[in-house]
Order: sequence, then C-alpha cells, then structure tokens
Amino acid sequence: NCYCIIMAGGIGSRFWPLSREEKPKQFVDALGIGRTFIQLTYDRFAGFIPAENFLVLTGEVYKELVLEQLPQLSPSQVLTEPCRRNTAPCIAYAMYKLRQMNPKAVAVVTPSDHYISNTARFAVVMQEGLAFAASRPALLTVGITPTFPATGYGYIQTRQDKESSITPVLRFKEKPDLTTASQYLAEGDYFWNSGMFIWSAQTIIGAFEQYLPEVASLFASIDKQYGTSEEQAAVNQAFHLSPSISIDYGIMEKAAQVYVRCVADLGWSDVGSWGALYSLLEKDAAANAVSGADSQFSHAGQNLIKETNPNKKVIIDGLSGYMIADTEDVLMICPLNDENHIKEVIQQANK
Ligand code: GDD
Ligand code: MG
Repeated sequence: NCYCIIMAGGIGSRFWPLSREEKPKQFVDALGIGRTFIQLTYDRFAGFIPAENFLVLTGEVYKELVLEQLPQLSPSQVLTEPCRRNTAPCIAYAMYKLRQMNPKAVAVVTPSDHYISNTARFAVVMQEGLAFAASRPALLTVGITPTFPATGYGYIQTRQDKESSITPVLRFKEKPDLTTASQYLAEGDYFWNSGMFIWSAQTIIGAFEQYLPEVASLFASIDKQYGTSEEQAAVNQAFHLSPSISIDYGIMEKAAQVYVRCVADLGWSDVGSWGALYSLLEKDAAANAVSGADSQFSHAGQNLIKETNPNKKVIIDGLSGYMIADTEDVLMICPLNDENHIKEVIQQANK
C-alpha cells in the first residue's frame, strides 16, 4: 500500500542559467555525478517502494523528459498538468487518483530537486513515517534542524528541541519574513520543513475537503474519469479552473493533526541557491569547485565554475568568490556570496 509521489513541475528559477524553462533544475545533473536530481530522488525510494508504485507529476511538456530519465516508469505513471498551479492542486490530483487506484494507499510526497546525502538514514525515516501514517489520520512532515534564518522555507514548531521520534506540530508557518525567522531560530524549538509529506490518501483528501474545498471539489468531481480515456481532458479542465496555491499555505498552516519527524543527520539540502550548490560540490585545494574539460587556476579561490561544454578549457587568474556559469547561450559571472543579489541579477536577465 506504499507509494511515492514525485512533484516535478517547478521551473527552478533561482538556478538559472543552468536550470532553464526547457529543462528545469530537477532534470539537470548539477552535481556532475551522472544522475539528475529527479533520478536521485527515484533512487532514494527505489530500495523500499516498487517501481510500479511511483507517480510523477509534471507539466505536460516535461513528460518525455521524465520517461527518458526514469525508464523504470510506464507512461501511465507520469501524470501531467496543462498549467502550473503550484503544489496543492498537483497533490490533490495525485491523491484523488491514488485513492481510486487503492483506497488504502499511504504515500510519501516528495520534491524532485533536493539532495540528501545520508540515504541509509533516509530510508529508515521514510519507512517509519509510512508505518505511522498508515495507522492513524496524520499529516506527517520531516523537520530539519535550521542553521540560519532562511526566509524560503516553512517553519515547524514542536515541543521538542532536538531530534526525537514523531511528535505533534504546534505551529506551521510558511516562509516567514527575516525578523520572524530570526525569532524562531532564537526560540530554538522550530525546524525547517523539508518539503516532504507522508499521509494516507484518505487523510489528505479529508484535509482538502476541510481547508481547500474548492480544489477538493474540482478533483473529486472527476472521480469517475480517473483511469479512463477521458481522464486527461477532465484533469486539464480542473487545473485551468483551480486557484494557484501551495500545499504549505493551503493546508499545512491550517490543519490539525500535523506531525513532524525531526532528523538532524539526513544531509538534506534543497540546493536552493548557487551558494548551496557550491557547498555540496567537491573543491580543489583553493576551494574552487570546477567542472570543465581542463582547468587552470592561479590566485583564484572559492569560485564555482559550471562549464557545460566538456571540450572547453577553463583558465581563471586573479578571481575569488565568484560563480561562473557558462552554458551554450548564456555566460553569467556574479559574486557567489550574496544570494539576494544573484536573484536580482537573474530576474533582470529574464525580463
Ligand atoms: N507537478 C508540479 N506542479 N510540481 C510542482 C509545482 C507544480 O505546479 N510547483 C512546484 N512543484 C514542485 C517543484 O519542482 C519542487 O520539487 C516541489 O514541487 C516544491 O516546490 P517549490 O516551488 O520548490 O517549493 P518551495 O521550495 O518554495 O517551498 C517548499 O519547500 C521548502 C523546502 O525546500 C515548501 O514545502 C516549504 O515549506 C519548504 O521549507
Ligand atoms: Mg524548493
């Protein structure tokens, strides 16, 4: 009865120019290890969830890319959305369909663009979570010990101040401002939401009915079409009519029966910025992280260099603390340490 639902419809805008609209971050091998983020996501679950129990949700334009990168899946396991409506409608579609396939289904819903280094620990935590969610009406999240007042994450308050077993959540706050995030960090009983959720189809559908009834009724009303030739047309219609809202704002902030499993040693990173990627990459003696055919550095350190042409030689002299991304059509050079600045530069470039 255990399933893995992979959300792979984001555009990965913070990661431009490596992540492009034609090929967003989840489909890119940014770590240079021969596996893309969506492939690594699949690998993390494949040891305890059978291939036929995966569903991937993505934009219709990415369906072929998903099947190319995950040949273990059949086309019917890749569910497509005609337009982007954020994660709540995407999850509603997956869960109504899953309940129809198996009324007893319990699922992990996971992002497709994260990195987790401790895969053995991950497997244990997920299996314990699935067992927990199978036996009671719980919405379970995975909490990560925060290290700085990030404003791009959800925050989870619990009674515990360190790693422990599964506990009830006192408060779920999605993406607080910097002042609030700093307060949470000082209080010490907050964790970051990792973006992974575990629940039974029945339980999350109940939460949709209660907290996002308009989304619930769109996907409930096409129950008879799931699994038939009319499914795609009905689903497309539902997405077009649906509001755009994330599961975090739409359900997790409001719901009762939210639980969290806090884990300190997952080696989790959402690889949400160039700086986060830099910290995951292997570096040379001067702390340069380079990919390219051949490279030569002098008086250069702490640079992140992504050269996508494997035949190009990279020579850097007298430059430190920069990100350099050289793709087929864009060359971007920017100081690595200021995330907000990089974000602005990317926004400007895409105008
Ligand atoms: N299929 C589909 N359709 N997938 C989507 C869509 C959509 O419309 N929108 C986003 N996704 C996918 C993304 O590809 C990503 O894998 C995942 O859903 C999460 O979406 P993000 O857009 O990356 O969310 P976020 O990073 O702003 O926030 C979430 O993750 C944080 C941890 O990284 C929240 O859950 C936060 O609370 C959490 O801290
Ligand atoms: Mg994200």
